[in-house]
Amino acid sequence: MTKSEPQKTSIETLLHENRKFKPQKKLFNNYFLKDMSQYFKLYKKSINDPLKFWEKMALEHLDFFRKWKKVFSWKDFKAEWFSGALINVSYNCLDRHVITDRKNKAALIWEGEPGDIRTITYQQLLLEVANCANMLKGIGLKSGDKAAIYMPLIPEAVVTMLACTRIGVIHTVVFGGFSSSSLRDRIQDSNCKALITADGGFRKGSSVKMKEMADEALKETPTVKAVIVVKRTNEKVNMMPNRDFWWHELSQKYSDHCEPEKLSAEHPLFILYTSGTTGKPKGLLHTTAGYLLGVTLTAKYLFDIKEKDIYWCTADVGWVTGHSYLVYGPLSCGATVFMYEGAPLYPEPDRFWKMIAKHKITILYTAPTAIRSFIRLGKEYPQKHDLSSLRLLGTVGEPINPEAWIWYYEVIGHKKCPIVDTWWQTETGAAMIAPFSGVTPTKPGSATLPMFGIEPLILNKNGSNSKEGGFLCIKKPWPYMARTIYGDHERYKKTYWKEIEGVYFTGDGARRDKDGYFWIMGRVDDVINVSGHRLGTMEIESAAVEHPMVAECAVVGRPDSIKGQGIVAFITLKKSATVNHSLKEEISKFIIKQIGALAKPDEIRFTDALPKTRSGKIMRRLLRELATTGSISGDTTTLEDFSVLEKLRESDEE
Ligand code: WTA
Repeated sequence: MTKSEPQKTSIETLLHENRKFKPQKKLFNNYFLKDMSQYFKLYKKSINDPLKFWEKMALEHLDFFRKWKKVFSWKDFKAEWFSGALINVSYNCLDRHVITDRKNKAALIWEGEPGDIRTITYQQLLLEVANCANMLKGIGLKSGDKAAIYMPLIPEAVVTMLACTRIGVIHTVVFGGFSSSSLRDRIQDSNCKALITADGGFRKGSSVKMKEMADEALKETPTVKAVIVVKRTNEKVNMMPNRDFWWHELSQKYSDHCEPEKLSAEHPLFILYTSGTTGKPKGLLHTTAGYLLGVTLTAKYLFDIKEKDIYWCTADVGWVTGHSYLVYGPLSCGATVFMYEGAPLYPEPDRFWKMIAKHKITILYTAPTAIRSFIRLGKEYPQKHDLSSLRLLGTVGEPINPEAWIWYYEVIGHKKCPIVDTWWQTETGAAMIAPFSGVTPTKPGSATLPMFGIEPLILNKNGSNSKEGGFLCIKKPWPYMARTIYGDHERYKKTYWKEIEGVYFTGDGARRDKDGYFWIMGRVDDVINVSGHRLGTMEIESAAVEHPMVAECAVVGRPDSIKGQGIVAFITLKKSATVNHSLKEEISKFIIKQIGALAKPDEIRFTDALPKTRSGKIMRRLLRELATTGSISGDTTTLEDFSVLEKLRESDEE
C-alpha cells in the first residue's frame, strides 16, 4: 500500500468551510419530504412530544403481532420501548413484503469477488431464512441463546442473521478480518452456543482461510456446541465429527417453512462489539422493536429508498453499518440490496465503478476513507464507466474532509446526487444527524441536522451549553439506542450516561454553526478511527505488551490523508530484549495476530521511556503531538521526568 501522508489540515478545512449546496429539485421531485419547512415542522413536533411521535412512526412503519401497552420507560438507565408489544424482525424484513407485489422482487443481488453473481428474490430469501432457522433449531438453539457469525460477505451471512431473528436467537457478528483471538474473546464474552462460518472467503484474489481461524478460536470456547460451515472457496478444512456440519448438507434435512416467533419488543436482537477507551471491546446490546424502527425510518427518509432503487452499502456485516444499512434497514423497507464480497480495488481499481454501471446501482453508501483512496488513484477509473444510474450518495464512519466531499459530488455524482453524510455510532443503532436527501441543503464536511426525535446538544464537561465547540451529547433516550453493554450495565451507565450527568455522551467533539448545522470534529477520548473502523488505543497497547520483548506501549492516532487516522505505537523494550532490524516487523505481526490486520501500526517507535505524569499516567497528548508534528510545544508542566522528552526527540530522529 502507498504510504499515506499526514493530513495536516482536515480540522482546519472543516472549520473554514462555508460552501452550501442547495438540493436540485428539478432532477428529483418526489422525495419523501417536500421541503425544509416540512422538515422543521415535523422535527419540532417530534421534539415537543417524542413519545407521541415515536408511537405514530412505529404504527406507520412496522408490523406488530400485538400492540404495546407503554411506549417508554426508563429506570436505572434501562430503557424499554413499546413494552408489551410482540414483533418479529424477519417478518418485517421478509414476510410482509412477500404478501405484496414485492414477492418476486430481488431482495439481494450479490457479486462475489471472482465475479460470480447471485440474485435472490424476497420469496426465495424467506425460504432460505426459514430453512436456516430450522437448522439453527436443529443444532439446539432456542430463543434467547446466542450464536456467533464469522463469515465473508456472502448471502448466507444475511440469511443467518435473519434466521436468528426469526427464532429469537441473539447474533453476534464478528468481522471476517478479525483474528482468531478476537473471535475467541467475543464468543467467550457473549457465551455463544454455536458458530456459523465458512471454509473461506475471497479477498484480493486469494482466499482467506476462515474455518482455520475459527478452529483456532474454538479451542478455547467450550460453550460452542455446534458449527455450521458454508462452502465458499472449496478450501480443505477440518470438520470435527458431531460438532461441525456443512451448511449444504444440513439444510437438506430441514424444511423451508418456519413460523416467525412472536417476540417481545425488548427481546435482545444482537450483540455487536466495538472499541472503547479501556479494556477489551464492549458488546453493545440492541433490542428488537426500537432498533428496527430506527433503521427503517432512517433508511426510508435519509436514503429515500424507492421501489425501483438498487441500493448498495459497501460496509461489511461485521460492522454496525452493515447490520443497519446492508441488512435490516433496507430489507425492512423492501429494497433491492446490492452486496459485494471482495476488495474494492480488485482486480483493477475500477471494480466499484464497473459494478455500479453493470448493476445500475442508484444509491451508494460508503466511507470517506474509500473515497480518499479513489481520489488518489485518479478520476480516470470512474470516468471509464457509465455512472448515470446513481442518484444519491451517502457517507459514514468518520468526518469527511471537504475535498473528498467535493470529489464524491463531482466525479461520482456528476453534481446531481445529494451527498448524505450520516453521523452515528454502534451505540446509536442508526443515523442521528444527517441531511434528508434532496431536501436539506448540504455543506461539505457537515452531517447537517438531526433526525426526527433526536435532540443533540453541544456541552462543556460540566454539562452547560457550549457556544464554541464541545462534547456532542444527546438529550434524551431514543428507541434505537443500545440498551446496555452485555454483562456490564455499570460500564454502560458510566460510559454513556454519567460522563455528563443525565445526557447520552457520544465521545465525539462537535460544533454547531449559525444555521444550526452540526460539524463533527472527531473523538475526544482514546478511541481512534482508522479507515472508519473504531479502535481503542488501550486495545492495541494491551496486545503489544503481550509480546515478550515489549515492556510498555503507548498508542496514538496521527492524521492520515487516506485512512483518516494512522496508528503510531511508542514502545519501550525490556532490558533483556535483543533489538534487531526485524523486531518492529515482528511486533507489528504480533499485534495483527491478536486483533486483526486493521490494527497494524503505521509506525513503531522504540524509546527509552514514555512521558508520564507524576501520578503515572502516560501523557498521550504529548505523544500525539510528537507523532503528528515531530515536536512538542504543548504544556508539559505535569510531566514527571523532563529528560524523557529529550529521549523521545532522539528516537524521532532515528
Ligand atoms: C465517527 C459507525 C463524522 C464518530 C456508524 C463516531 C463520524 C464513530 C461519522 C462511530 C460522520 C461516524 N462524521 N464522524 N458522518 N460517522 N463517525 O461505532 O467518531 O463504528 O463516534 O459507528 O465514528 O463509529 P462506529
